[in-house]
Amino acid sequence: MKLKYSLFSRRKFLNALFGGGILAFLSSFLYPLVRFLFPPAQEPDKVILEYAHYKDMNPYTSRMFAWGSKPGILVKKGNRYQAFIAVCTHLDCTVTFLPEKRKFYCACHEGWYDENGVNIAGPPPSPLKKLIVQMEGENIIIRNS
Ligand code: FES
Repeated sequence: MKLKYSLFSRRKFLNALFGGGILAFLSSFLYPLVRFLFPPAQEPDKVILEYAHYKDMNPYTSRMFAWGSKPGILVKKGNRYQAFIAVCTHLDCTVTFLPEKRKFYCACHEGWYDENGVNIAGPPPSPLKKLIVQMEGENIIIRNS
């Protein structure tokens, strides 16, 4: 009788151990798959930048900022600013602004955008996503258009 109790207990323990291992194994595959198929929305409605950090920018220079989980780029043109999501419309590489050419450049596949973010050469199929820039007091407010 004691042996039976001991076997039953051991079997139950091993079943729970293997069952839990299988569950953990499946979860390690399913969780990333679900996150990939249904990514959380991470684009903000607006971003607030302190003007003091950007007022000394020279014309046709740029600074990066965080647009949620994506990079944003702020370009000074004369006395005004333009902002874009700095993600290439080809395969999502980060674009940079080249002041000497006054163009955005994507190094991944030689993609080019003009100073207004319009795709002009290379594989990018569409313009950069432009954001709305407004000055409010001592802040630069960047909104989704
Ligand atoms: S990802 Fe930018 S040109 Fe391909």
